[in-house]
Amino acid sequence: MALLRVNSVSIECVMGDIADQPGVGAIVNAANARLLPGGGVAGAIHRAAGPGLEKECGPLAPIRPGEAVVTGGHNLPNPYVIHCLGPVYGTDEPAATLLADCYRNALGIAEEKGIRSIAFPAISTGIFGYPVEEATGIALKTVVEETPRLRSVRHIRFVLFGNRDLRVYEQALGKLQAGTPALLIDLDGVLYVGEKAVAGSLETVQWLNGNGIPHLFVTNTSSRPGSALVEKLARFGIHTDEKRIFSPPVAASQWLATHAPGKAALFVPEATKAEFGRLEELDRHAESGASSVVIGDLGKQWTFPVLNRAFRLLMAQPKPLLVALGMTRYWQGTDGLLLDVAPFVKALEHAAGCEAVVLGKPSKAFFDAGLDILGCKPADAIMIGDDIAGDVQGAQRAGMKGILVRTGKFRPGDLEGEIKPDAVLDSIAELPDWWKESVKLP
Ligand code: APR
Repeated sequence: MALLRVNSVSIECVMGDIADQPGVGAIVNAANARLLPGGGVAGAIHRAAGPGLEKECGPLAPIRPGEAVVTGGHNLPNPYVIHCLGPVYGTDEPAATLLADCYRNALGIAEEKGIRSIAFPAISTGIFGYPVEEATGIALKTVVEETPRLRSVRHIRFVLFGNRDLRVYEQALGKLQAGTPALLIDLDGVLYVGEKAVAGSLETVQWLNGNGIPHLFVTNTSSRPGSALVEKLARFGIHTDEKRIFSPPVAASQWLATHAPGKAALFVPEATKAEFGRLEELDRHAESGASSVVIGDLGKQWTFPVLNRAFRLLMAQPKPLLVALGMTRYWQGTDGLLLDVAPFVKALEHAAGCEAVVLGKPSKAFFDAGLDILGCKPADAIMIGDDIAGDVQGAQRAGMKGILVRTGKFRPGDLEGEIKPDAVLDSIAELPDWWKESVKLP
């Protein structure tokens, strides 16, 4: 999640078209000296704005490298366009200073106009030939350095045209993010209990969003897709997107991409398969050729042939990795107790003589995969949950802080054992006050 919060300003990077940024106060043009329509960014902006923009630009030209001027947005969805002339790499010197001037001067104009949000393209990295990595470093460093002086600008967006540029920006933002505290939030028992929201949970999530605190919602569910959880949260007024739901399938696809690339044999409900993203699935009838055998909560679909196929896959050479989506033993269904993931994993471990990698709370690999998504080190992360073992102890063993809430499955006896939470809150409603007291904000 490429979002950084510095001095109450959020800095994000997205892939898209700079001429299609509705809701943003000003977009920035990577202009030419004469402020004419050209190719790339300038072409796209002038095409979308219509001929009125070129007319308004005329008297303002020419501009020098590093300079910025402002016009209206004409037919664009934005009130303003700020035109900057980036340096031509290898010609205009000192290139780094001139490029930094573009970002600084554009932000200066945005402040004068009282603009709250501004979107930049990757100035000079197209026709002007500035190497993207170098230009990205200058762009981000400049805007971060400017944030203490910003009074009206609250959102800075970098709009990248291709996947490669987006990755460069995401990595650079990730590095800047290091040291920003992040939060992992257990869902059931913390934000809601059954079908009822915990009082104050909506306000706390709004506070997290408002303060740009990086966070993920963490669940051990592998029987319901992330989209169902997003819908459930929406029923409580909590609006989020699937990217923020971190579940064992999401962790597994991320972890397997580096630890066991290749085809995965998935023993999970059909609806959950979409959660595995780009992970390549082995043919559902194959009995060999898997890099990993992934066991989720298959419920009533477990039959002898299904379980035996998993066993045969594990016995094939080269041996695949056995991956468990959590190690819950059983759960309470409407008609009584039901077997969960662990008994089937144990049977397979026993038969195939192997040990499963567990990707679900409280395993360290699971928490690590979540922190990877947030670009956060364990020492900078906090987990909040209602399960003293699965949430608090699991988080502490992974090097994070663990907060216990007195809601959900919490029982007073939880505090009499050996596990000492870093904080105990009556509910998640108390988190903002605790955070302001206890967490060093960047
Ligand atoms: N939205 C976002 N980014 C875009 C878009 C778009 N519609 N079109 C291109 N880009 C990307 C390019 O891929 C590149 O990474 O923006 C970056 C800057 O590219 P250019 O527009 O070529 O800008 P620059 O290198 O500063 O060159 C400016 O190009 O179009 C001419 O008239 C312009 O002479 C000026 C020169």
